[in-house]
Amino acid sequence: MLRNSFIKQSKRTLATSVKEPRIKIFKIYRWSPDTPEVKPHMQEYKVDLNQCGPMILDAVLKIKNEQDPTLTLRRSCREGICGSCAMNIGGRNTLACLCKIDQDTTSETKIYPLPHMYVVRDLVPDLTHFYKQYKSIQPYLQRKETPADGKENLQSIEDRKKLDGLYECILCACCSTSCPSYWWNQQEYLGPAVLMQAYRWMIDSRDEATSARKEMLQNSMSLYRCHTILNCSKTCPKGLNPGRAIAEIKKSLAL
Ligand code: SF4
Ligand code: SF4
Ligand code: FES
Repeated sequence: MLRNSFIKQSKRTLATSVKEPRIKIFKIYRWSPDTPEVKPHMQEYKVDLNQCGPMILDAVLKIKNEQDPTLTLRRSCREGICGSCAMNIGGRNTLACLCKIDQDTTSETKIYPLPHMYVVRDLVPDLTHFYKQYKSIQPYLQRKETPADGKENLQSIEDRKKLDGLYECILCACCSTSCPSYWWNQQEYLGPAVLMQAYRWMIDSRDEATSARKEMLQNSMSLYRCHTILNCSKTCPKGLNPGRAIAEIKKSLAL
């Protein structure tokens, strides 16, 4: 008797704990250099949100692991630190690991690689040129002499504070690839991410190459293609403000 009521109760508990599936449709950009005759296209996948983590990266990895191992993307840290999972989700450049899945199952979510970049495969953009541009601004401390004690280059607390909001950039390229000026002048215009890092080194009190750094930007293309549209600052998944950094560079060059 006791056993029967236990079984009945277990069945009831099971029935209430098995949730109705909540199927969400994801449409994901696909292209492979191995099959160049197949044009880029959107592929549809269905994911039960009850069986999936809360972030877009969870959904994309679930699709890759359980439905389609050929789906290609970059990711590493899954906590907004490495910058590698940047993609265009629902029309906005952002990090897949920091972007929550829209829980409305009546609307589908479209995912593309970062816009206006060459595509290596599926959601993987070619960032070679972006990294070359970053290298071109010499993103490292430059000093003629080492400190007197041969140890650290010290900085006051106030000077260190000036780097807040700049050093946190993870070079995900969400901002640069949302910038219309960067889309059309990518070969010469450095774009918001790289310019913000140029500024980060220009105002570092320990750096002695400020005038050379300014000199590098004194031409019509590297900096002045920015027309203050501010897409960059709107899209930054780290809440940074590259548009403001660019405005500060322009001000300092005008002095
Ligand atoms: S400024 Fe923001 S969007 Fe741009 S590269 Fe850095 S972290 Fe990414
Ligand atoms: S503010 Fe400048 S860098 Fe930012 S999106 Fe606009 S044009 Fe591009
Ligand atoms: S996986 Fe590293 S930022 Fe998203």
